[in-house]
Amino acid sequence: MLIKKPADILPSEITPEQVWQRRREFLKASASGIGLAALGLAGTAPSRVLAGDAIPNIQPSPLSTNEPPTSLDDITSYNNFYELGTDKGDPKANARFLKPRPWTVTVDGECAAPGEIGIEDILASFTQEERIYRLRCVEAWAMVVPWVGFPLGDLLKRFEPTSKAKYVAFETLYDPEQMPGQKRRVLDWPYREGLRMDEAMHPLTILSTGLYGELLPNQNGAPLRLVVPWKYGFKSIKSIVRISFTEKEPPATWNRMQANEYGFYANVNPAVDHPRWSQKTHRMIGDGWLAKKRETLPFNGYGDQVAGLYAGMDLKRFF
Ligand code: MTE
Repeated sequence: MLIKKPADILPSEITPEQVWQRRREFLKASASGIGLAALGLAGTAPSRVLAGDAIPNIQPSPLSTNEPPTSLDDITSYNNFYELGTDKGDPKANARFLKPRPWTVTVDGECAAPGEIGIEDILASFTQEERIYRLRCVEAWAMVVPWVGFPLGDLLKRFEPTSKAKYVAFETLYDPEQMPGQKRRVLDWPYREGLRMDEAMHPLTILSTGLYGELLPNQNGAPLRLVVPWKYGFKSIKSIVRISFTEKEPPATWNRMQANEYGFYANVNPAVDHPRWSQKTHRMIGDGWLAKKRETLPFNGYGDQVAGLYAGMDLKRFF
């Protein structure tokens, strides 16, 4: 994988011009004391916090790829988020139902300091980096997303996991009023996912609070979603309200639904086909439907960094 050094990456390379111009205005206003009110971004009252609000002080990450990012329009209009509908266009159409403020994440289980943390605290304490990740989705398409996020491990450490914490479990909000898709039992709600502790602590595993320099659009999992770039997209659980340290492997929604199709690990692996389609190639969104498919790399191209986590494991069995 090609990795750019932070100094090589200009915000203008990873962010559309109108977005980074707005971010510069935002930073200038904050620095000059005009304050956020002048830009209509003051306070954290639920109605004033919108997807598209700039996130200040973002630094480019050394973990970014130098592939060109997928367009903002594609990233925000072609989504899987069954709580907001099962068609790819539904999450954007139904995004208005989800209210990402106020928002609290409960952290519990095998840890010495269980508790709750609000999204404002998360944004103030942790969010600072802009990374470009390739997120490959389960139906064999891929996007390059300039996520804003921070290592999940930074948040987990605050709650002091004990030696019994072998896994981390995640849960999405359950509220059929905000998530109309939950009125139908297409999945066993709430959506759940899990990681092994070493996967969760890996620096490539991030919690995302934004993309393209702005707060996460609801359809992408506002206000907080997981991103695990070497795994298929279904591991990247959206709109998280609970994180629990567990001793045993936690339930994961798709794995529970169809274990023969969706393994717990879900590492991108061209050598293991999905029972209904090959996983050797994928379509890059933005290439167009007629373009030649691209070759899928083990661990989505992040093998150098993460293959060691699975040393000695039979990845055809633990897929
Ligand atoms: N999280 C929740 N809560 N509900 C979902 O339906 N879909 C998953 C994952 N996270 C899903 C979810 C799947 S299958 C994929 S491919 C990715 O989100 C899609 O993320 P994106 O819409 O930001 O591309």
